[in-house]
Amino acid sequence: MDRRDFLLHCAGGAAAAALGAHPAPEAVAAPGPRGDRMAWWREARFGMFIHFGLYSGPGGEWHGTPTGSHEWMRHNARIPDDEYRRLADAFAPAALDADAWVRAARDAGQRYVVLTTKHHEGFALFHSDVSRYTTAHTPLRRDVCAEVARACRAHGLELGWYYSIMDWHHPDYLPRREWESRDATGADFARYVAFMKAQLHELLTRYGDVAVLWFDGQWESTWTHAAALELEAYCRRLMPGVIINDRIDVAPPAAPPPGYRRAGDYVTPELTVPERGLPGQDWETCMTMNRNWGYAKDDPDFKSVPTLVKLLVETASKGGNLLLNVGPDGDGRIPPPSLEGLAGMGAWLRTNGRAIHGTVASPFAAPLPRAAGAAPVRVTRRERALHLFLETWEGGPVVLPGVREAPRSVRVLGAEGTPVAWARTPDGIALTMPERGPDLLVPVVEVAFASPVRVGS
Ligand code: GLC
Repeated sequence: MDRRDFLLHCAGGAAAAALGAHPAPEAVAAPGPRGDRMAWWREARFGMFIHFGLYSGPGGEWHGTPTGSHEWMRHNARIPDDEYRRLADAFAPAALDADAWVRAARDAGQRYVVLTTKHHEGFALFHSDVSRYTTAHTPLRRDVCAEVARACRAHGLELGWYYSIMDWHHPDYLPRREWESRDATGADFARYVAFMKAQLHELLTRYGDVAVLWFDGQWESTWTHAAALELEAYCRRLMPGVIINDRIDVAPPAAPPPGYRRAGDYVTPELTVPERGLPGQDWETCMTMNRNWGYAKDDPDFKSVPTLVKLLVETASKGGNLLLNVGPDGDGRIPPPSLEGLAGMGAWLRTNGRAIHGTVASPFAAPLPRAAGAAPVRVTRRERALHLFLETWEGGPVVLPGVREAPRSVRVLGAEGTPVAWARTPDGIALTMPERGPDLLVPVVEVAFASPVRVGS
């Protein structure tokens, strides 16, 4: 997404946040067709993004020189089309195992997968009747999308397709990169749109149920709001229940005219979790595990398991989903540090998943303070329970401001014998943790009530 686009998302969120704390779950889960199709996605909270393409082999290195931002390699290193396409002639990921990718997602507690079916480079991971620039015409010859779709079905995950509107390879795509040597005479963007629709038709009719369409590369001058609305309607005709991200559309105008509706179902802040969530909107933070989307030989900077768990907690407590990326290497292997991160999250979620999956944002406007020096406590909510995410046991009591009802039970997930005392105070229910508790990564205290959680009078 481009920066302007993202800032506009944030502006919308900040305005909504200024109106008060997060809306109650029933307000977010509005009934009607959009509410219906979003239901599984809102429950899911956690998905896997997979960036895989021709760029995965070089891993960000072109003729021994680092190119930066690796799936952008062709653009960054200004590689001529005929030279870049030699990567397709040699594309043969020897260890490609879509089932292993999806098992890693399932075991991490991820509920859906979004695969780059065609990134900005224009190369498709699926067999296509309208293009030869696909895995079918490489030494691999396999349809990677079909394999991922089959694995998702086998392991019970929802399937999502990433598809880039921008295409650096197709002769009809405009604008051309300013450094491109291929002549643009005769190029016809309308013909490119027809090509894109033909590919989307393939993606939406050949692989069974597709739950998410994740567009990208929508920011160039040729793409318009009208085209986005048309494409959205086209995709929905083919797959009525499909959820579509906001990047199908261009950034909204500064002063939207009456009746304006941005195409898409949810917004996609990139590499950041919005300060106060985006109350009233569905949103998903997409995040890398190191600093790159595509496989990066020169980037060992992987996030630790505690960092990843806290990221998921932060996202869920603000009411959003986390789409966490992996970039398999040229052989098709997910880098070991990513697998370790996923396994660590899976282990944590096996105990604490009920505090993430199927929850909504904290009812409190900010994390709950503790004694000076202790990290404030993030919260998620179910109809009759609140979940408190601690970073340490010590740090004094936590007050649930405005909560008057006596809890029915208070327990530490996975360490049920841990004593947590509660008491009524004028400000709300106060919980006191033991000074020293079991050695858990981000312990979760579940506070359950006999009736739906109420905050305030
Ligand atoms: C950006 C980048 C792209 C990446 C995407 C993921 O739009 O252009 O390379 O795939 O973000 O969110």
